[in-house]
Formats: sequence, structure tokens, C-alpha cells
Amino acid sequence: MSNKVIALGVSGGIAAYKAAALTSMLHKRGYEIHVLMTKNATEFVSPLTFETLSGNRVSVDTFDRNFEYNVQHVALAQKADLFVVAPATANVIAKFACGIADDMLTTTFLACRCKKLICPAMNTGMLENPATQQNIETLRGRGMAFLDAADGLLACGDVGKGRLAEPEEIADYIEELLSPKPLAGCKVLVTAGPTQESMDPVRFLTNHSTGKMGYALARQARNLGAEVTLVSGPVALAPVRGVRMVPIRSAAEMAAAVKGAFPEQDITIKAAAVADYTFAVTSDEKLKKGDGELNLALQRTEDILKSLGQAARPDQVLCGFAMETQNLLENARKKLEGKNADMIVANSLRDAGAGFGTDTNRVTLLTREGAEPLELMDKEEVAREVLTRCLSILEKKRGN
Ligand code: CTP
Repeated sequence: MSNKVIALGVSGGIAAYKAAALTSMLHKRGYEIHVLMTKNATEFVSPLTFETLSGNRVSVDTFDRNFEYNVQHVALAQKADLFVVAPATANVIAKFACGIADDMLTTTFLACRCKKLICPAMNTGMLENPATQQNIETLRGRGMAFLDAADGLLACGDVGKGRLAEPEEIADYIEELLSPKPLAGCKVLVTAGPTQESMDPVRFLTNHSTGKMGYALARQARNLGAEVTLVSGPVALAPVRGVRMVPIRSAAEMAAAVKGAFPEQDITIKAAAVADYTFAVTSDEKLKKGDGELNLALQRTEDILKSLGQAARPDQVLCGFAMETQNLLENARKKLEGKNADMIVANSLRDAGAGFGTDTNRVTLLTREGAEPLELMDKEEVAREVLTRCLSILEKKRGN
């Protein structure tokens, strides 16, 4: 749970309702939220909604004398770790760019020295207007982060760019901005998801991997400051923002993508569930059924982790995964040694809360030094633990 303080500025747009969902999400994640609304924003959502969701008073009027602080905006400006504005209207962005402070939100924003994240939401014409674009550029130039508005149907009936990013995406950016950056300067390669081995243009051989663990690793590596490449099989997950996404389908495509990127990596984590077998022959045409049995020959795919283990330099860290149904540690240790990995993250399909599609995992981290069983935890937390261990192995290898 975080003890970080977030000032959330809400300006007057229909997307203000999404800021309520964001407040609830951040509050549940343990952040201390202080909401500041423009007068117009209170026409869309009542301050009471934000007070209930954040558990804190909402600031609207600069001259409100009922607050516990004498100079509320200065107190919050000093206390906040991050100032988020969502939705940010064209008007409020223009005020920020010019340094105008004429209400609680703009006054506090101007007084605040912490990092700032602005999430614009407005009509497409307003967004594309050179005045707005120039204001955004000015603020970017001052080091402020922007989460671009998305395309879609806008409240005014137009279809175009201008929709506020989803609360989940804003929360994701907030976590990145507030995270320490021990992996700054590091390149991290992650593989995720299943592979699909085609039998013909219609059918394929695959497995139950959903990619959640690999995507959590990529997201957390990004949060910790790494430059991340995510080689991903076909999954139903949204791409990870700020990460180089390399979509692949088959084990052979994954091998090519991973081996190409590997030499420049500091840390490589192979969380993908790669098919061990592919069809010896893939038909170009749809195979038609006959009356009898169908026997199709399978052949081994390249063991990518093993190839990497053979090619790895002493200053690179290589981490694999092992999912087992029996003899977890014994099988995982065989993989550690046989594939020349530095660490194997072992998990058992038989453990409650571990395995395919779950949001949690119970893993044992296996290195040359020994086995470290971790508690059942969220996949995002498992990802942080794995990355922290990889970093300490990297530091040890490089003698710092
Ligand atoms: N792996 C790989 N290439 C393959 C198969 C697996 O790189 N063709 C990697 C996985 O990404 C994972 C690790 O090897 O990091 C373990 O995968 P797993 O399939 O559990 O192990 P195998 O070595 O294939 O052994 P077995 O299937 O016999 O358990």
C-alpha cells in the first residue's frame, strides 16, 4: 500500500465522472487523495462524491475559511507527491501555460513543485487548435507529463480525438511517475503469453497462458525505470504503455525476435509459455476431414531460453519460468542448470491462486544460491520481486 499524496485537479468537462472512478481506484490502492475542483466541474459531479470517495475535503473556493489549513493551497502544494489534472479542459491547460491562478485548482497547481500529470479531455477541434497544441508543448517543455486523449465518440457527438484516458490508464501512469527508478539505464526484455503453432490456415496448437505475468513484468520494469521490450504471443491484454511491443505468433517468430534483441539486453525474462512442439508440416490449405484417424507429426521447437543461456555474456542476467504439476523444485533446478539461467521462477499449477489467468501467483525464486519461496501475492508484486532479484544478480555480476 502506498502512502503517497496525490492532488487531483478536476476541471469542468463531462469526463469529470471518470475522475470519480479514478479517485476510488487510487484510494483503494492506498494513496492519500486531495481533490480540487473548478466551479464548472462541480456542475458535472458534486464535491460530495469526491469527498466520499477520497475521505478528504474537496477544495473549490480560494476563500473557503473552514479548512484546517490557513493557506490550504500552499499546504497541499507542499505535501503532494504528484499533481494530476483529469480531466484537463482547454481552458485550464491555457491557464497553466500562462501561470494564471484564479481559483483553488490553478492556484495550488502554480504553487506546487512536485511532478505533474495532465490528462486532457475536450472536443477534437479545441484539442487540435494551435493555441491548445502550443500550450501543451509549453507545458511539456517544462517537464510536465501528458496522457494523450483517446479517439472515440465524444459527448458533443463528434467522433475524434479528445476522450479522457480511462481511469485504469491514468492510475497506471501515476504508478509509473511515483515509482523509484533503480532500473534506470537498464534494458529489459520480457516474453509473455502463449505461442500459436499453425496446423493449417484455420487451426493451431496453443496453451492456456493469458500473458498476465509477463505483462506485469514489463509494466513493473517500466515503472522501475528500465527501457523495456515486450515480445508477446497473442493475448487479450491491452499493450503496455511506454514499452516497445513486439507481437509474434509462433515459437519460431518468438525465437527470431528474442535472439535479435538479446545482445543489447541487461536483463531478459522469459515468462512466455512457448510451445515445445510445432507441426512438422503446415498445410497452406484447410485440411479436410476423412473417415479414419488423423495422425499429424509434431517436431520440437527451438528451446529459446537454452539458446540464450548458451549465447549469454557474463554481464547479462537471464531468468526463466517453470510451471510444473509435480516435483516443482527438482524440475525447476534442472531447468536452471540445463538452460544456464541465473534464476528460475518456479510455480506449481497445483497451488491455489497460482497458474493460468489468475491475478495472483505463488512462486519460488531459484538461483545458484538457493530457493526462496514467496508468499501468495498479486502478479504485479511478484513482478517487482523478480525484477529486484534480477537487479541484485546484475549488480553482483558487474561487481557494483
Ligand atoms: N522455453 C523456451 N523455449 C521453448 C520452451 C520453453 O524459451 N521452446 C522457456 C520458457 O519461456 C520458460 C522455460 O523455458 O522460461 C521453461 O519452460 P517449460 O515449458 O516449463 O519447460 P521445458 O524446458 O519446455 O520443460 P518441460 O516442458 O519438459 O517441463
